[in-house]
Amino acid sequence: MNPIFADLPTTVFEVMSSLARETGAINLGQGFPDDPGPEDVRRKAAEAVLDGNNQYPSMMGLPELRAAVAAHYRHWQGLDLDPTTNVMVTSGATEALAGAIFGIVRPGDEVVLFEPMYDAYLPLVRLAGGIPRFVTLQPPHFRLTEEALGRAFSPRTRAVVFNNPLNPTATIFPDEDLALLADFCRRFDAIAISDEVWEHVVFDGRRHRSLMAVEGMRDRTVKIGSAGKIFSLTGWKVGFVCADAPILKVLAKSHQFLTFTTPPNLQAAVAYGLCKDDAYFETMRQDFARSRDRFTQGLERLGFQVIPSQGTYFLNIDIAPLGETDDVAFCRRLVMDHGVASIPVSAFYAQGAVKTVVRFCFAKKDPTLDAGLERLAGVARRAA
Ligand SMILES: Cc1ncc(COP(=O)(O)O)c(C=O)c1O
Repeated sequence: MNPIFADLPTTVFEVMSSLARETGAINLGQGFPDDPGPEDVRRKAAEAVLDGNNQYPSMMGLPELRAAVAAHYRHWQGLDLDPTTNVMVTSGATEALAGAIFGIVRPGDEVVLFEPMYDAYLPLVRLAGGIPRFVTLQPPHFRLTEEALGRAFSPRTRAVVFNNPLNPTATIFPDEDLALLADFCRRFDAIAISDEVWEHVVFDGRRHRSLMAVEGMRDRTVKIGSAGKIFSLTGWKVGFVCADAPILKVLAKSHQFLTFTTPPNLQAAVAYGLCKDDAYFETMRQDFARSRDRFTQGLERLGFQVIPSQGTYFLNIDIAPLGETDDVAFCRRLVMDHGVASIPVSAFYAQGAVKTVVRFCFAKKDPTLDAGLERLAGVARRAA
């Protein structure tokens, strides 16, 4: 068996979700909303299943969806994308990431990865024969620094895999960090694979800035998005890749043998959804921000130290002030003894893990959040 997969432990998301199922715990671990998602978008998908075409759509994606992606990013992020040469539809961001990494990284190439990182990145880089070079980001701000980038980049750097807004930390890199990263990419002639799936889930009046919009990055960024996150329909697995035409041509070849295509009915519904007016997106953000505030305030009342969440479905607590040094043991205790599943952030590191940060998903209905808080009562005070 291939050791890259054979030696991988079962993901912490699955472990925690299984424990939650077995013990009847409230699952605030894995990141999915308990809201069914926008009804008009779901209705469009249902209509397209009944009345539309259910055979293989174009490998690059439905033309109407590619046009909608380009128009959407022009409107929201000021990007200039030609739908026919710069946009491809994939089966979720996960396929987009795999296709980009396989299409760009050659055996022996170095790839810069930022820890904490989404768990798919490292095995995909290894499978491509890439050599990971880690930049370890530090709580509570998880910022990029010139020194850290200087240690990671080299003349052998082929690509960097960058995630902004960042899961699991729920932080957004400021413009100066984007400029710093862009500077390194240009200096070392590296391609940035920019995972921007959380681009719309940003709070407190923030606007997402794509790495692709930073000076000099238009033609060396592979921008990845996910309708699952934009419309709170995580099971749909409709993703998009945007890149300069010569890069996209190669990525299309890796896509053709990964999934080739994506269900046309879901594509049609996403094309409709991307054209929704600004109010939809603003309301979605406000609703999530309200849940974030409710859960943050509840945790703080119970004595937990919350690291502010700027975006995503997540917030984190710092368990160091509770005298805790092992996030995995802490999360196990929360699920087994208190009936609340969470995620230890050390699972997002390959080396030098921070072991004192724990992630919760707040994208849940008020009664779920309140029940979770009730079960957590006493944990912080007892531990402190
Ligand atoms: C940073 C990041 N990238 C990619 C994905 C996967 O997206 P998709 O479900 O569209 O494959 C997720 C899902 O949580 C994520 O958080």
